Amino acid sequence: MIPRLFARRAALYSRSLARSWYGTKIYRPDGSAVSVKEDLTPLAKHIRDTILATGPISVAKYMQNALTSPVGGYYTRGQVFGRSGDFVTSPEISQMFGEIMAVWYVLHWEMLGRPSKTAFVELGPGRGTLMADMLRASKRFPDFAKSVQGVHFIERSPELRKMQHSKLGCSEESTKYVQDKNDRGTPISAVGADGKTVCWYDLLDEISIEPDCVPLVMAHEFFDALPVYKFEKGSGDQWSEILVDVSESEAAATEASSKSGTAANKLAETQDLHFKYVRSRNITANAALILREPKFSTMFDKGDHVEVSPESAHIMSQLAHWISANRGMGLVIDYGQDWTQGDTFRGIKSHKFANPLSSPGSMDLTADVDFSYLRYAARDHAKCFGPIEQGTFLHAMGIQARLQQLLNTTKDTQVQKNLVECYKRLADPHSMGRIYKVLAVLPKDTQTVPIPFAPPSNEEMNKPKVEKIIK
Ligand SMILES: C[S@@+](CC[C@H](N)C(=O)[O-])C[C@H]1O[C@@H](n2cnc3c(N)ncnc32)[C@H](O)[C@@H]1O
Repeated sequence: MIPRLFARRAALYSRSLARSWYGTKIYRPDGSAVSVKEDLTPLAKHIRDTILATGPISVAKYMQNALTSPVGGYYTRGQVFGRSGDFVTSPEISQMFGEIMAVWYVLHWEMLGRPSKTAFVELGPGRGTLMADMLRASKRFPDFAKSVQGVHFIERSPELRKMQHSKLGCSEESTKYVQDKNDRGTPISAVGADGKTVCWYDLLDEISIEPDCVPLVMAHEFFDALPVYKFEKGSGDQWSEILVDVSESEAAATEASSKSGTAANKLAETQDLHFKYVRSRNITANAALILREPKFSTMFDKGDHVEVSPESAHIMSQLAHWISANRGMGLVIDYGQDWTQGDTFRGIKSHKFANPLSSPGSMDLTADVDFSYLRYAARDHAKCFGPIEQGTFLHAMGIQARLQQLLNTTKDTQVQKNLVECYKRLADPHSMGRIYKVLAVLPKDTQTVPIPFAPPSNEEMNKPKVEKIIK
């Protein structure tokens, strides 16, 4: 097989934090405003008008709007991956990544006694590259490939759905589109090049599969895109919420526009657009609800920050329930830690970190995943294993053997060099091998310990770890 190579992509940035970035205060919410001139895009105007009408909004609401708002949210654009986009992800670096993942599912399908019906389910499939590679690699295991009844994608972005449709070679004749006239061209089902049905959904609970069909679930770089709330510890047990407000100049310009009509309106639209962080004066309902866990009151000192994503917990709980109910298996792969973190919310634009409050909709927004929180959310429904480091996972699953096979397919030294670079990029602890983690999710009553994980400890099963953040 000819290796699919991305020689130049290997030099591009992934979305994880460069290690040297940790501990800097560049984007710490210290109240400073963005100091560049910015256009007032329809999305920025929408967020500004919401803030002016209702007061400062949560970071989570800002993030959600900036990423998925139909008024120009980042993921509605589609072309955001790769060299011409803003970042590159593991499946886009090398085919080896998807191939290794396929092997993991095949191994566990064998351990389950080769069920006759399975279906791939992917949350946030991006360009569809990972699924295309997994399907292609599955063909090496004909009985397994035959068991795969279809593919289910959870994807909100119409543009990305179109890219996934094309990546899986779906035929035009087989495609059904969303009926809504505003969403014309957004696929909801089709048949891919290999004859498998492909279906798209906005939400996990919309998926329906046959009762005897085993779901093989993948969430790669999905949870880091879900909104986070940010909080700051005050004196005693008090927490304030870090909110997003418009800057004074923006508020003043808007007030002027409401007084003197069109001319001032023009002024407001050409002002620098400044969003800034502010702290709530009192504890907000979000802080009271989200930080109920007692450790939040004992582990942190005045001035410490925490980021929490209740939407991630909600989706993880649903996912765990669904995997257990359907006797399936899942992998969650993302960058993050096995504890709660403070200041990782960031923007990524043209392969560089950027201030997340600048130009909403123009850049990717992300925050490191708190795996301990995901495990905690899943604990009633499923058994979680890990997280383990991506490098450990890939090595245990045989990435070096696969690299060697691919090296043997070519005599071109440049191609060989690129392959080795891609392997290092994915597995080296100084690159993506350590910061990216892998968590396996199996039904709650499973007796199997998935490869290459260790059985979970009681603590891992039951408690979210909250560790002191080193600032
Ligand atoms: C960073 S991309 C990862 C893409 C892909 N998994 C990869 O690794 O290349 C995040 C993906 O999640 C999708 N996404 C983000 N928020 C979502 C949400 N709330 N519901 C469904 N999909 C979402 C985006 O549209 C995109 O496909």
